Amino acid sequence: MKFYIKTFGCQMNFNDSERIKGILKSLGYEQAQSYEEADIILLNTCTIREKPDQKVYSHLGEYKKVKEKNPKAIIGVCGCLAQRMGAELVNKAPVIDLMFSSFNIHQLPQLIQQAQAGYKAIAILEEPPEDEDKLWEYPTVRDNQYCAYVTVMKGCDKNCTYCVVPKTRGRQRSRSLQSILSEVKALVEDGVKEVHLLGQNVTAWGQDIGMHFADLLYEVAQVEGVQRIRFTTGHPKDMDERIAKAMGEIPTVCPHVHLPFQAGSNRILALMDRGYTKEEYLEKIQMLREYKKGITFSTDVIVGFPTETEEDFEHTLDLLEKVRFEQVFSFKFSPRPGTPAYSMEGQVPDDVKTQRMARLLNLQKKILSEIAKEYEGTIQEVLLESYENGKLVGRTLTNRWATLQGPEELLGKTVLVRVERANPYNLECSLVSVLS
Ligand code: 5AD
Ligand code: SF4
Repeated sequence: MKFYIKTFGCQMNFNDSERIKGILKSLGYEQAQSYEEADIILLNTCTIREKPDQKVYSHLGEYKKVKEKNPKAIIGVCGCLAQRMGAELVNKAPVIDLMFSSFNIHQLPQLIQQAQAGYKAIAILEEPPEDEDKLWEYPTVRDNQYCAYVTVMKGCDKNCTYCVVPKTRGRQRSRSLQSILSEVKALVEDGVKEVHLLGQNVTAWGQDIGMHFADLLYEVAQVEGVQRIRFTTGHPKDMDERIAKAMGEIPTVCPHVHLPFQAGSNRILALMDRGYTKEEYLEKIQMLREYKKGITFSTDVIVGFPTETEEDFEHTLDLLEKVRFEQVFSFKFSPRPGTPAYSMEGQVPDDVKTQRMARLLNLQKKILSEIAKEYEGTIQEVLLESYENGKLVGRTLTNRWATLQGPEELLGKTVLVRVERANPYNLECSLVSVLS
């Protein structure tokens, strides 16, 4: 029996899929090369914006054809769209046999049994169940041997007015320190060198269990064999001095933070209910720069939030110029059903969003070319994590992609490289020495 999973959305969704693969392997399934040969096809969905929603329907249309050849094949949908729409999704797409959300991935074995017995196995829960931590008992199946995601918390309590996540992922629940550390230890034993701590709002870890995210960083750093620690996504409101200090004190925490600012205008930030001003955001950036030498930043930005004026938007551009992010993920505002911003007055026309987005991308391209030039001639530490088209590929501590010519045996090694040529998205390097 074979399975096929198609995943949309964020790293948390990808890590959920890695866990789902672990569950399916434990049930004796093998990974299929394509959906055509699979006995169970799963779509792990995202609903953060409208576009990913639409993709799901077109994929389901494709998968339907598999049933004509293999009537016993099971088609399942999970993740955030499943959680948001519930039974309505099955009404729209009756081809679905199986459906669950991120609250009850651990119930997958029973749900598959139900579906195999010919019932529609639909289990969308309103609230996370008591036993959701059972999920951690399953291993993950990962494509990357050396860098691993570790989900450390679920849900979000922030309620930003544009965001559907509190509805799809529920309230904030921190995973216990003990459970996280035992996964990190197991990963290191399995050859992992870099752990990437994940949460919708990872910097809030611990708030619901009397701990602080800084404690988690110190604890993970204690695990022998962990060479690099990263984390995503930070929230500016929770990014406090304790975290900055921990980042400075722990050499294995990489000098890079993903810190979404969403908008530069204080009026828009207030409408989004983000809980900080542009000036406060810049202060956090400054604080992180002081504690962590050479730190770089990436961010998320929303363009065209309701009532956004030209002047508001210029504050967004100004933030890009002031911080000089190494990566910017920008999105046109997409009204999500059930969120306060969905029905706000002053929705911005699409052509205005498109124009502003183009200006933002242009500015960021210019900044990125300047940053790239600054990398040329420097020595960087790179963990080589894959071998593609005859080249070794890895990331710098500052989270830049780097490639170099070299033997495949160097895979998994941390090396020093010299940056020979840099473009906005890649550093072409030559080998200086092998560190470990
Ligand atoms: N419209 C556009 N972008 C959104 N994001 C979240 N909700 C919306 C929305 N309704 C963006 C934010 C967030 C990223 C994951 O997606 O920038 O940080
Ligand atoms: Fe998409 Fe958000 Fe769900 Fe991630 S948490 S899959 S970004 S809706």
